[in-house]
Amino acid sequence: MKQSRYNSKIIGCGMYVPEDVLTNSDLCKMVDTSDEWIITRTGISERRISKEDVFTSDVATKAALAAIGNAKITPNDIDIIIVATVTPDMYCPSVSCIVQKNINARGASAFDLNAACTGFIYGITVADQFLRNEVYKNALIIGADCLSKITEYKDKKTCVLFGDGAGAVILQARENCESKIVDSLLGAEGSKGENLTVLGLRKDEMELKKRITNNCNTIWMNGSEVFKFAVNSMVYSVQKLLKKIGKSIDEISYIIPHQANQRIIDGACKKLNYKSEKMFSNVQKYGNMSTASIPVAFYEALNEGKIKNGDLVILTGFGGGLTWGSVALII
Ligand code: UT7
Repeated sequence: MKQSRYNSKIIGCGMYVPEDVLTNSDLCKMVDTSDEWIITRTGISERRISKEDVFTSDVATKAALAAIGNAKITPNDIDIIIVATVTPDMYCPSVSCIVQKNINARGASAFDLNAACTGFIYGITVADQFLRNEVYKNALIIGADCLSKITEYKDKKTCVLFGDGAGAVILQARENCESKIVDSLLGAEGSKGENLTVLGLRKDEMELKKRITNNCNTIWMNGSEVFKFAVNSMVYSVQKLLKKIGKSIDEISYIIPHQANQRIIDGACKKLNYKSEKMFSNVQKYGNMSTASIPVAFYEALNEGKIKNGDLVILTGFGGGLTWGSVALII
């Protein structure tokens, strides 16, 4: 990473999840599944679902305001807003522009970023470049998704997995600060993209055939292929990042992985030869919230005292695209 006098420090974070809970027993009334199958194969017990008239910009705005309050800055201090999402309210305006309007951050530039579940890792990495290069001082990065809006609740292979939520952080450029984003690593394997799809304007015949109903605005996933990619890419990116920053796995205080499936988290932990109690998990209560999973997990790990000042922490994710990425930071 290019040396700079400036680093990016997380000075505040916030989260929001909708109140409505969808439990495994609720799902058993909707598809041919069981609490036992869902728990043993995924570790998920419940997830949060937004009401019909609540969209990604609404949950993103709530998380953003929480992060702004936590950082003790005002919306006017924000120079850039990046929203990572795959469930925008509209193609245009972007969710980030709607958030900018909602929070009245008049001086901020704003754009959305689509790297699916890895979106927050991509967002932090992009914002870090602006701050270290002295372009901007304060960045608001939000991971927000309402996956329930694009979930096919007749497809037992996917509908048990997903939920809605948002997490946000404020990154601030600080001179020679110990607490900082240390480094990051991003990647993509577009050749494997067909394993996890949500259609846009192009209604590809093959893609339509994969879906069990004619609702084409839903997620389709080859679960076992994504599972293998998930474990391998997290292990690869964490190990490569460790090498890049000259640290060993034992020097990492905590890992906050994308929350998709407890078996994926456990599998990566084992392959990394890492302590399972240092691998954060809240998948049981929220399911997979896509790009919101990592910032929500970060918020909870901080508030539960699992990570604290001075800790070297790794955030690591994977997802549609297919994409992957990791960020190392000192809290
Ligand atoms: O955020 C990134 C995106 N997503 C992911 O990271 C998800 C990655 N994949 C996974 O987490 C897992 O692959 C799943 C949880 C999706 C599936 O678990 P699996 O152990 O890979 O199951 P499978 O797809 O191999 O299916 C095993 C069996 C099948 O039955 P048969 O063919 O063996 O008779 C499925 O039909 O389990 C059946 N099945 C279910 N049964 C009850 C699949 N889903 C369900 C269900 N309830 N919900």
